Amino acid sequence: IGWLALAFVVSFLLGSIPWGVIVSKLAFKKDLRDEGSGNIGTTNAMRTLGKAGGAAVFVLDFGKGIAAGALAAYVFVPAIAGVEVDATTADGQALLTAFGSAGVNPAALAMVLAFAGCTLGHIFSPWLKFKGGKGIAVAAACLLFVYGPVGFLVEIAVFAAGIALTRCVSVGSIAAAVVCPLLGLYYYGGQWVPWLIILATACVVVWAHRANIGRLRTGTENKIGSKKK
Ligand code: G3P
Repeated sequence: IGWLALAFVVSFLLGSIPWGVIVSKLAFKKDLRDEGSGNIGTTNAMRTLGKAGGAAVFVLDFGKGIAAGALAAYVFVPAIAGVEVDATTADGQALLTAFGSAGVNPAALAMVLAFAGCTLGHIFSPWLKFKGGKGIAVAAACLLFVYGPVGFLVEIAVFAAGIALTRCVSVGSIAAAVVCPLLGLYYYGGQWVPWLIILATACVVVWAHRANIGRLRTGTENKIGSKKK
């Protein structure tokens, strides 16, 4: 349980680093929150800081997702696998029964908690008064570890198709968020606790796009190549 909590908390803290704000303030003497859509992610950095700023924000945000996913895969999961649960004690029995009856593999739970922690840390950053970004770059990076390269590429294909069809990055993002729990059914079929964590995280990512959804409904969403707010 301690390792699982640590996987979530460390990932949340990594996710909470607001690279978009840091890069825009330090290198561009601007605050991304006051520019364009006001979002602190790659799309708005690209839109308002230019290609170099956008690339920097993407690499750093994606990087923190990679760090969280890699920590989970190479540190927390092996640590959990090494924990001996003593089934002869009442506590040990209770733990095994709890995990067993919920159909939960603790290693899978650690991976999913890292994904949720990092994504939620980015969206609800304590350094930005619990506001933040929309979680797409960080979530994608974590999925590379949670679902593996094939699941990751399916997500990228959905994201790219959404953008190609509409020229709105937000449509690709929302489509990828919707597909995420569907892929989770494939990768975590039968393990409803990890799957519910994936579903809840995807719902928060869609919720984070509520302003985009409002603009899509009124036909005023930013399109790639246009200069609208
Ligand atoms: O990943 C963020 C993207 O989906 C939308 O960004 O700046 O257009 O709100 P933005």
